[in-house]
Amino acid sequence: MTDNWTELAVNGGPPVRSMPMPSRKAFGKDEMASLMEAAQHYLEDPMDLPYHGRCETAFCDEFVRFMGGGYADAVATGTASVYVALQALDLPKGSEVILSGVVDSGPLNSIIVQGYVPVIADTAPGSYNIGLEQFQAKCTDRTSALIAVHCAGEALEIDEIVADAHARGIKVLEDCSQAPGAMWKGRRVGSFGDIAATSTMYRKSLMSGSSGGIVYATSEDMHHRALACADRGKPLWRTDYDIRDPRTNLFPALNWNADELSCAVGLASLRRLDDTIARRSKFLDGLSERLKAESRVCKVYAFRGSPSPFFIPVHVDVEKLTCSKVTFAEALIAEGIDLNPHYAFLVTDWAYAIPYLPEGTAIPNAVAFRDESFNLFVNENYGERELNDTVDAISKVEAHFGA
Ligand SMILES: Cc1ncc(COP(=O)(O)O)c(C=O)c1O
Repeated sequence: MTDNWTELAVNGGPPVRSMPMPSRKAFGKDEMASLMEAAQHYLEDPMDLPYHGRCETAFCDEFVRFMGGGYADAVATGTASVYVALQALDLPKGSEVILSGVVDSGPLNSIIVQGYVPVIADTAPGSYNIGLEQFQAKCTDRTSALIAVHCAGEALEIDEIVADAHARGIKVLEDCSQAPGAMWKGRRVGSFGDIAATSTMYRKSLMSGSSGGIVYATSEDMHHRALACADRGKPLWRTDYDIRDPRTNLFPALNWNADELSCAVGLASLRRLDDTIARRSKFLDGLSERLKAESRVCKVYAFRGSPSPFFIPVHVDVEKLTCSKVTFAEALIAEGIDLNPHYAFLVTDWAYAIPYLPEGTAIPNAVAFRDESFNLFVNENYGERELNDTVDAISKVEAHFGA
């Protein structure tokens, strides 16, 4: 540590890092080239950009290859992917759907809007993810499905959860939005349950422009149902289907079709997803090792399986500090480190949601973990420099606030 680090940046001293953390550039040269190729094609093709065009087909085919088989349909948003997947499960009216308490509002709202009862499962102690025990604790004879969220890029113990759920007659929808490509026991998440949803909006590791999503299934029947749920009940797979004849539509559903040019961008993003995951994982592993050796206070969350890191929860041992966790995290931000000091994606914190939840819903494990951690941001352009700066900033702030 150098002398000019004695004063914290939050108190007016010079920051550890004065340049911004590297931006991600998810829309890079490859995405631009794929988009231009698609635009050029449609400029010359007599046909205008359709639903399920060549870009969407290529994106879905590539996703299926990435997953090691199955069926995929690209849709307009990540929320739409969950909504469509949930509708495709065809659950009994008014039944209970278990959802992890740490999640985006899209999955919760999909349950509510479709008239099901959201039942919120707590996370495992010291984690933002549910385990088998937390799922089992919420099962009743009214439970018809679980939305299993692979939060932060970590794979759930999804094989055990799915086996237990199926033994109880409960269907499983995997939400892979924060963990595309993460593996559990050598298989990609999304391939274990009955159906999977993945957001590909611009902040996700796999992105298809500003907005997008993918519904994935290993069964062709489930895929067909998802296709119909994504576009007004149309039996798109039938050879005698006529796009100009809504009389053959199967049931009421909305239109969640993906945009063809988004899919061109998504295709390029998907082709580098393995590299994206590897670079993020390298930073995660490096940080875990360094903090283990160099920090008394901060500990990187131990991801299970092979993660696809979305953000990195860092546990703060507040007993060893003279300040609060938020003050500590805000001091790190002032030192030039990008992070979220206090994660707000806990369902029980959302006033609008409370009337829809069973009375007394509580997620004490999730709240405790959130209250003692911050989420470090990461992207595939983080390297050695960012690793050193992050560790240096933590050392500096820790030295100042150490009890
Ligand atoms: C776990 C999870 N599910 C669903 C969504 C919804 O996706 P979108 O924002 O693309 O609608 C998100 C994030 O945005 C998410 O993190």
